[in-house]
Amino acid sequence: MDKPESKAAATAKSPAGLEGVVAAESSIGDVDGINGVLIYQGYNIHDLAEHSTFEEVIYLLWHGRLPKRAELEDFRRTLSENQTLPAEVSEMIGRFPRDAEPMDSLRTAVSALGFHDSQSRDLSREGALRAAIKLTAQFPVIIATIERLRNGQEPVAPKDGLSLAANFLYMLKGEEPSEREARIMDVCLILHADHELNASTFTARVVAGTLADMYGAVTAAIAALSGPLHGGANTNVMKMLLEIEKPERAEEWLREALAQKKKVMGFGHRVYRTEDPRSTWLRKFSKEMGEARGQTQWNAILETLREVMFREKKLYPNVDYYSGSAYYLMGIPLDLFTPIFAVSRISGWTGHILEQYANNRLIRPRAEYTGPRDLSYVPIDER
Ligand SMILES: CC(C)(COP(=O)(O)OP(=O)(O)OC[C@H]1O[C@@H](n2cnc3c(N)ncnc32)[C@H](O)[C@@H]1OP(=O)(O)O)[C@@H](O)C(=O)NCCC(=O)NCCS
Repeated sequence: MDKPESKAAATAKSPAGLEGVVAAESSIGDVDGINGVLIYQGYNIHDLAEHSTFEEVIYLLWHGRLPKRAELEDFRRTLSENQTLPAEVSEMIGRFPRDAEPMDSLRTAVSALGFHDSQSRDLSREGALRAAIKLTAQFPVIIATIERLRNGQEPVAPKDGLSLAANFLYMLKGEEPSEREARIMDVCLILHADHELNASTFTARVVAGTLADMYGAVTAAIAALSGPLHGGANTNVMKMLLEIEKPERAEEWLREALAQKKKVMGFGHRVYRTEDPRSTWLRKFSKEMGEARGQTQWNAILETLREVMFREKKLYPNVDYYSGSAYYLMGIPLDLFTPIFAVSRISGWTGHILEQYANNRLIRPRAEYTGPRDLSYVPIDER
């Protein structure tokens, strides 16, 4: 039974949006919002972005240490062996409405994947790792399949020997990306892999905390990521750039948006009070891609908005600010930007779900009741 006194203690300082509330212990990742430092299992994100690969980072998140060479090779092979989608799921994707939001299609496909894993209810470390491998290997395939089928094209099978990042671009476009593009995508996946108890990861842990299976927890996390205040922001940043169109219009556009008290996508963060360390890398990629494609206007707009926003509101860009333009310049459709976030974040979600299963207690907070009490029931004809 609930204890009223413990509820009073719990809700006395309940901040809106659970700001600053510590709701879990985790060794996976940590965000230092004051100093702008992000670590995965002890390693600084800058070090990982400079030197590692997405596959190494997935291993790190799940196992708590970097793999040795033979372990990494084995891990890559296992991922590759688990890429094939069940035929029923590919067929189902083919029947989705052509204009469906890809995040909705991803959510539905992942939910259906659970039907085809007869061991999905095995929540042991071994069983859950097996599901994590399947999901992580299949996310890029699902998204590429969604993209190809909605355009009336045949899906492209993954190619042996390519990294997850290169394979993703290959399956999307039907041709192998340049080495540089593949590396940029690889680093983008590293940068988005984990971010402590963000809204979608918290969602995944809450669902896993009921001992629901991994497919259920990940399906819920996809829904949380799809919102414009979370992963949906990257698409909206690019829409904003396309609307502004010319660098000379950027300042006026922003002033008008602020005057109308609009939330400007790609700015602000619940935890960072300085530059988001991920955006340092993404800014570099966005600039590089813009120069390579002869489209420097997007970066010029981004820089003007950044300066004005800082002057006016002291807000910094977040991870979604520069990623959209980098993906756009790679020729990726706008509505796939958030699914790319998911291709990466599945590694963090599954890492947290593994951690939750390993030391589970149902997550069940309290609400501060603000409604009336002691009302008497009024028969329907007397109301
Ligand atoms: C990320 C976000 C949801 C964090 O929200 P939060 O911690 O609840 O912060 P708040 O919405 O309470 O914002 C605090 C203040 O900054 C302002 N602010 C925050 N982000 C802003 C933005 N993007 N544009 C304009 N003003 C913003 C708020 O209006 C508020 O000002 P006020 O105190 O004068 O009312 C919020 O910054 C946002 O909506 N950003 C845009 C969406 C986005 O880029 N999301 C991706 C996050 S990685």
